[in-house]
Amino acid sequence: MSLENSNQTDPASHTEYANDTIKTLLTRRTIRSFKPDPVNADTVETLERVAQQAATSSFNNAWSAIRITDADLKRKIAVIGRQDYIAQAPLLYIFVVDFRRNSEIARAQGVDMAAATAFRQQYNFNQGQDDAVLALHAMETAAESLGLGTLVLGSILNSVEGLIDLLNLPELVFPILGLTIGTPNEEPAIKPRMDRSLQFFENHYPHVTKLTGQELVQKMAAFDERLQRYHDLRYPERTVGRYTDIIPKHAQGKSAATKRIADKARAQGFDF
Ligand SMILES: Cc1cc2nc3c(=O)[nH]c(=O)nc-3n(C[C@H](O)[C@H](O)[C@H](O)COP(=O)(O)O)c2cc1C
Repeated sequence: MSLENSNQTDPASHTEYANDTIKTLLTRRTIRSFKPDPVNADTVETLERVAQQAATSSFNNAWSAIRITDADLKRKIAVIGRQDYIAQAPLLYIFVVDFRRNSEIARAQGVDMAAATAFRQQYNFNQGQDDAVLALHAMETAAESLGLGTLVLGSILNSVEGLIDLLNLPELVFPILGLTIGTPNEEPAIKPRMDRSLQFFENHYPHVTKLTGQELVQKMAAFDERLQRYHDLRYPERTVGRYTDIIPKHAQGKSAATKRIADKARAQGFDF
């Protein structure tokens, strides 16, 4: 895979030092169109083992993933996500925080789970979410290293209650993200990232440099331009804009989703 069109000023300049893993990571981009070819069973097993091997907080292994093989179920999830391409993905996983398994083990070992509330607490929920995301990312990278394409899906949470219902998620289990995997049917450019100096700091957060918002916007000019070019190529039919145009819209986004998710997590037994 070529690093042409890659992000930043020029990650291509790193290729001479890069091994295959780094090349896979430096050239990753979201794929939203897949060929219908199924992912074979050996690859599925490899990807699932890779995900299991990710780091997990306190070795709680507080996540699970549901492999969606039923075409009708996939279509229903695509409706929730409002993205048709979910239904076409050869392999689809829903990653969930899962404290049910550990609760059952503790109960079986004599713990009064009405009194022992640790697994319900928000801190543990967050750890389970971290676990799930790390496992998903390991799977994503492994799939890409095999030439497959991937798409991370937050849109599955458009209807948390719908998804909980479709997947029969019990108490102490909560959906986090979807991941689709398949053979790419498109070759999108790599989406640019901002200059590394704007995202990596040394020792302290750089308040001290007192960069004003305006100065930040100016420092983003070259990145803004690269992103605009990327958007114009990938979405010629609509104007997506520059980073510094998009972020103000995000800043004014609705907060209802946050409340809705907290409510649903409470309904699943978590003590938010
Ligand atoms: C947590 C998370 C949720 C995402 N949800 C969606 C989604 O629901 N639909 C979608 O098309 N892309 C989704 N994406 C993909 C992002 O839009 C994409 O990663 C981002 O624009 C950067 O582009 P790239 O992955 O090609 O570098 C999601 C990414 C993350 C990390």
